[in-house]
Amino acid sequence: GSLARYEAENATISQGTVATNHLGYSGTGFVDYTNVSGSFVEWSVSMPAAGTAKVTFRVANGTTTNRPMDITVNGTVVAAGVAFNPTANWDTWQDVTVTVPATAGINTIRATATTADGGPNVDYLTI
Ligand code: GCU
Repeated sequence: GSLARYEAENATISQGTVATNHLGYSGTGFVDYTNVSGSFVEWSVSMPAAGTAKVTFRVANGTTTNRPMDITVNGTVVAAGVAFNPTANWDTWQDVTVTVPATAGINTIRATATTADGGPNVDYLTI
């Protein structure tokens, strides 16, 4: 089926800011995680039925270092230390897809930085 897009700038943001200082983002901006472990973006997404879902994060990482994040669904870590590798520069966005379990209805999906570098810049999630 078709994918639903949830902009990061419309999600719940902890230790991050909405920014517009790089090219190529969708919507009204992207989330710039503070360079701190524990910073996160949390989305409320709707699922038609229980089962597994492919969740794709649209991200940029203009550094030369991986910025891993833990992915939780409804408070449970379902993918630990997912790699968000360098994307050449901050204007270059790439997709990182994770397959996660989900329940029918609204699910809470959180992407939390696990190192002091913080997360990549995050434009949106699709599911
Ligand atoms: C730069 C860049 C930001 C990015 C930040 C970081 O400041 O302009 O968009 O978020 O580096 O290291 O996270």
